[in-house]
Amino acid sequence: MQLAKPDEMFGVVEFQETADGSSTLYLPLLDEHYHSVHGALTESMHVFINAGLLTLETDEISVLEVGMGTGLNVLLTILSRRPGQKIRYHAIEKYPIPVELSSKLACRDDNERRILDKIHALPWEKPQNLDENFELLKTCADIHTAELQRYDLVYFDAFAPEKQPDMWSPSVFRKIYEAMNGGGVLVTYCSKGSAKQTMRDAGFCVKRLAGPPHKHHMVRATKNGLFCDGDLEK
Ligand SMILES: C[S@@+](CC[C@H](N)C(=O)[O-])C[C@H]1O[C@@H](n2cnc3c(N)ncnc32)[C@H](O)[C@@H]1O
Repeated sequence: MQLAKPDEMFGVVEFQETADGSSTLYLPLLDEHYHSVHGALTESMHVFINAGLLTLETDEISVLEVGMGTGLNVLLTILSRRPGQKIRYHAIEKYPIPVELSSKLACRDDNERRILDKIHALPWEKPQNLDENFELLKTCADIHTAELQRYDLVYFDAFAPEKQPDMWSPSVFRKIYEAMNGGGVLVTYCSKGSAKQTMRDAGFCVKRLAGPPHKHHMVRATKNGLFCDGDLEK
């Protein structure tokens, strides 16, 4: 299969080191980074792992990532999961980055390098076991048309609404909501009012949480209201 690369769609891709020493990618044409320049790893840990993965205590979970990009969230999920927890991880990415690029992303040690390289080397469209408790399915597709499964946790990591508004549309959130199990959690770094309203209109119970460095807030949205209590802001 011929995979579209980000530079075919968004122009040249540049590396950038972020404040915590981890790396991200920058798309000059879109003037957009894949992560916060104030710390890519810090942001992913805060938004996706601490406010998402670690709030689910079940022995088996199914995760959807919208926008796999550098694979950082896959890597951090593998490193941060509870001992013995079984994870089925479905990563959707329309513009996979080439291995020549992923192999240059900063890693903290040899173990991370090995796992990240493996994540990128695995074939697309085929569920693969990274280890006995972690199955990864990478789908090269557009979220608007991708076939979804059932999920307990969604990492919604699209480019910002100002840069790619179609990713934050009612149809995308309705589609994801429909694919989530009751009590399921969606986390995203973006707390823009219109994005939260679109999530609410899709049926989510939306809660604003403290954001990562240099960002006031992030969002955790739930299906059927597990975290839906009195302090929701409108
Ligand atoms: C903010 S970046 C993702 C960051 C990524 N989670 C990481 O840790 O590197 C947004 C990602 O969404 C992807 N993307 C853009 N349009 C898409 C679409 N229609 N469907 C699926 N993925 C898309 C981009 O190629 C990019 O990799």
